[in-house]
Amino acid sequence: MKRAVTIMLPSGCLLEFSGGLNNVYHSTILTLVYPALKVDDGLGYLVMNKKKTVGGTSVGTHVSQADICRGLQALGLQSGDLVVTHSSLSSFGYVEGGAAAVVDALLETVGTAGTLIMPSHTGLGKYDFGAYDPSKTPVRKAIGAIPDTFWRRPGVRRGNYPPRHPWAAKGPLASPLIEYSEGHPIAAGHCLDILVAVADLGGYVLLLGCMNRNNTSMHSAQVTAFNELEDACKPKREFLRSSPKRPEDFDAVDQPLRHAGAVEITRIGDAVIQLMRSRDLFDVVKKMYISHYRTAGGNESILEDIPDPDGIRGCYAGLMQTLKRH
Ligand SMILES: CC(C)(COP(=O)(O)OP(=O)(O)OC[C@H]1O[C@@H](n2cnc3c(N)ncnc32)[C@H](O)[C@@H]1OP(=O)(O)O)[C@@H](O)C(=O)NCCC(=O)NCCS
Repeated sequence: MKRAVTIMLPSGCLLEFSGGLNNVYHSTILTLVYPALKVDDGLGYLVMNKKKTVGGTSVGTHVSQADICRGLQALGLQSGDLVVTHSSLSSFGYVEGGAAAVVDALLETVGTAGTLIMPSHTGLGKYDFGAYDPSKTPVRKAIGAIPDTFWRRPGVRRGNYPPRHPWAAKGPLASPLIEYSEGHPIAAGHCLDILVAVADLGGYVLLLGCMNRNNTSMHSAQVTAFNELEDACKPKREFLRSSPKRPEDFDAVDQPLRHAGAVEITRIGDAVIQLMRSRDLFDVVKKMYISHYRTAGGNESILEDIPDPDGIRGCYAGLMQTLKRH
């Protein structure tokens, strides 16, 4: 059953408690901002819809590149870090310099010793190999303006394939990680992938004004939990068919993450920013898998072995050895 309640705050913000997620233009986890409100009381999802412009003039908080750098540093992100970012530009309010300023702030924070990774996914189909040109094909709208700005930067390595789900990265670990993500057609998309590698290398996931439903590492964490606990190497697509995959299932990780002290949260402008160690996310998802997913359908699926899982694991172990020397 869908229920919705809308409240006007004194600031003029509209708070909407809603079970439906369609048409949500700008969403922020309000419990983080207004801790007195509860998300777990059966109302469903707590989102904030906020108008950013009135008559063409920005009414959001103005944010500069320096503000973003300060916010990221306050969260604990520092030079040399490896970080995967998912983002919403409009969540900040009004960013002086737009998406380019956010990209600059991220690159400045991790420095030349750090590696920044973003999804660079396109609007193409899975098998549109001929149509994809990594130097021309734009990132699709649902991935956002910040990743679409990032891959165009000099020195960014963007995957040559897959045509629908390439990644882009800049920094010392960029090339080996992108090569791995595009390399082995099975290893890249299934039981081990670039996001598992980020967890194994001590990297972070950074959510800039978006939520865990946008956190692709959740997919990899689920597959990893399955592989560890069921001791099977299972194609990711088969696993995902059988496991919770609605956006709201992914947001269910919010509270366990907070309880585990595994997520640092701040605000930059109007945006809620979350930083988590990828490894911590994987651990929390594993616990959730044991207590919930395993009984919620994960064990109903048909096991389907992939060809040569040992070869994939061997290839992955080799990659980790090389990268850990960096
Ligand atoms: C879908 C999603 C990208 C939408 O966020 P958004 O903030 O509305 O859109 P973008 O980040 O693309 O930013 C563009 C918007 O910012 C706004 N904008 C433009 N200039 C701006 C500025 N200087 N400052 C602030 N906002 C600005 C505009 O409204 C623009 O939208 P428009 O082009 O339709 O007018 C976001 O909610 C999301 O899901 N991000 C994560 C995606 C992801 O990584 N998914 C996982 C897949 S692997």
